[in-house]
Amino acid sequence: MTTPFVIAVDGPAASGKGTLSRRLATQYGLRHLDTGLSYRAVAHALLSADLSLEDEAQAVEAAREVDFAGLDPLVLSTHEVGEAASRVSVHPAVRRVLVEKQRDFARVAPGAVLDGRDIGTVVCPDADVKLYVTASPQVRAGRRHREILRLGGQAEYGAILADIERRDARDMGRADSPLRPAADSHLLDTSGMSIEAAFLAACAIVDEALGAKN
Ligand code: DC
Repeated sequence: MTTPFVIAVDGPAASGKGTLSRRLATQYGLRHLDTGLSYRAVAHALLSADLSLEDEAQAVEAAREVDFAGLDPLVLSTHEVGEAASRVSVHPAVRRVLVEKQRDFARVAPGAVLDGRDIGTVVCPDADVKLYVTASPQVRAGRRHREILRLGGQAEYGAILADIERRDARDMGRADSPLRPAADSHLLDTSGMSIEAAFLAACAIVDEALGAKN
């Protein structure tokens, strides 16, 4: 039996890591897990039950109930849920429960692309490929702003930038598993790069790792 091939993709909010990860999974025939959705599911469960996001015991209960097969991106992708997810993700006990489930997902053949904040550092430290996808806060805010307008919504660039900076500070500053590049990750700064160029750069890195593994 061949060991699963795992690609870890980390990066800050709105860096484009989700789109990149989905494309890599399709390209290489791997399963894909957006681990942010699992933290969002915990936050959504607490918000729906009118429970405090600071209540670690309830959050752990919600984390145990999370079923990766049933995560609905439409329900979980709202700005409010994202902000709440960033807050529940600081609880170490919540992280322990979700990280165990994420590792189980990665272990199944033929392997997977996992994207999040701590995949290369904590969830899959032995991943075959580690990518750290980033872009300046201004570029990320600009992309998110254009996307909202394209979908017919309304948003103010300055408010989006402030949100992104607040989320970065929380995700990078928390004590347990802060967002940071793994020492052996490949840095993809997409500030001056299209998503297509980032995808091609990532494929070149993955191809090299696949060649070395086979
Ligand atoms: O990637 P996202 O915006 O869906 O993530 C929502 C929040 O979940 C993010 O602000 C921090 C948290 N998160 C995390 O702590 N660890 C992960 N592996 C993924 C997300």
